[in-house]
Amino acid sequence: MRKLIVGNWKMNGIAKDLPKIKAIAGLSQTYSGTDCGICLPATLISRATQQTAGFSFGGQDCHHSATGAYTGCISADMLIDAGANMVIIGHSERRIYNNETDADVHAKALAAGKAGLHAIICVGETEAQRDIGNAEATVLAQLLQSVPQTANSTGVSIAYEPVWAIGTGRIPSEQDVKTMHAAIRANLFARFGNDGAKMPILYGGSMNGDNASMLLAIENVDGGLIGGASLSADKFEPILAAANAPPQ
Ligand code: PGA
Repeated sequence: MRKLIVGNWKMNGIAKDLPKIKAIAGLSQTYSGTDCGICLPATLISRATQQTAGFSFGGQDCHHSATGAYTGCISADMLIDAGANMVIIGHSERRIYNNETDADVHAKALAAGKAGLHAIICVGETEAQRDIGNAEATVLAQLLQSVPQTANSTGVSIAYEPVWAIGTGRIPSEQDVKTMHAAIRANLFARFGNDGAKMPILYGGSMNGDNASMLLAIENVDGGLIGGASLSADKFEPILAAANAPPQ
């Protein structure tokens, strides 16, 4: 499976950062064996697509309705209209700061699919849940309730992002990533059959140029969702290079 490396710019980026986006998009030509994209603040998507045709851009959330009286919200159709082809759904920062539940994530994923956006659906345990031995049960429950039954491997990727690894510089052990991704794969296979075996499972949480080779070589790690290290081409490039390297 080709690796999928997606940047998550979170609430960073204004017009003066467009050259950085162009530089990152330019890397995708060098590392053409890897699929790559950046999920931007919605305000930048249309300008980014205008300056860099052919590169994948995404949003970081969408509403579950296509239109309506929802002040401040952005629909999947609006993201498409701006030039996006994917969207992050259910990132832990939205689950925590915006109180999004699995049911919300499920409804948003359906809306994204209906509009034609590839949905990257995020799951992941907190440190407290891992400490009491509940990491796998938490993630599998999120998966069951967040991922719609209509999901398929072209329309949906799963991002496993341990909450305690996001932006902290800490990552799970190689064995823990392997165990969790295997559990997610088994769950997807049980639910979606052969198509579940093809659904990309990304790892996210403090992935960077130093640890990307190790993380991306783990079985069932099909790519990465990258926050901090996606904000400049310098930091993003070694991750793309690791993803693009032939398997050992
Ligand atoms: P990080 O963020 O790479 O800065 O840890 C990842 C994410 O939140 O998707």
